[in-house]
Amino acid sequence: MGDLIYKRHSVRKFKNTDVPLEDIKKIIKDATYAPSGKNLQNWHFIVVKNKKKIQEMSKIVEKKNEEMASKLMDEEKKKSLTKYVKYHTVFKDAPVAILVYAGKYPSTGVDVLKEINASDEEIKELEKVSPGIQNISAAMENLLLSAADLGYGTCWMTGPLYAAKEINEFLGFEKEGYFLAAITPLGVSDDSELKSPPRKPVDEVLTIIE
Ligand SMILES: Cc1cc2nc3c(=O)[nH]c(=O)nc-3n(C[C@H](O)[C@H](O)[C@H](O)COP(=O)(O)O)c2cc1C
Repeated sequence: MGDLIYKRHSVRKFKNTDVPLEDIKKIIKDATYAPSGKNLQNWHFIVVKNKKKIQEMSKIVEKKNEEMASKLMDEEKKKSLTKYVKYHTVFKDAPVAILVYAGKYPSTGVDVLKEINASDEEIKELEKVSPGIQNISAAMENLLLSAADLGYGTCWMTGPLYAAKEINEFLGFEKEGYFLAAITPLGVSDDSELKSPPRKPVDEVLTIIE
């Protein structure tokens, strides 16, 4: 497992190699073995295994990016949004794209705070914990590690989600209370110098209380 963690990198270039359905199902099964609050498993996965449809999704993101940029007054902000579109479409040449949806997660603590008329501040503070999103994140990380274990590259993406509504319409997906939380391409990496950016030193992010 230790090695597997370091084997995963964000992959943004893919070979034109097919990913067998069997591997995809194994990866999704591994994702569903993530822990989830109340074992609610409030996730849903859409696997797009069609290069034309994946490219269409990329065009949808580009179009939305252009539309948003055209409405921005500030030239610098406009340039920055346009420049980053390539990071919002890194799935475009992948053979597979996986879309991860999050369903509602009723939080007992928040409900109780509301019922006992706690302050808005206290309610907002507890809402930040977002257990429903934590569930999805655990599943997503399992998914990425499982893919790495099978020799595939992925890239956790939320950048393109400003076009979530348009992507959902294109795919025709609807499930009561579910929203698009993340996308990852899946495929064989075509990046020969795959490397992750450096991490903060452990001492900077660790406090030990004895
Ligand atoms: C929540 C989240 C959203 C991300 N969104 C994007 C994205 O939209 N586009 C992209 O190219 N990378 C995206 N990334 C990948 C990060 O840039 C990457 O994980 C980070 O730079 C560390 O590199 P590594 O994954 O190779 O270790 C995202 C990662 C996370 C966890």
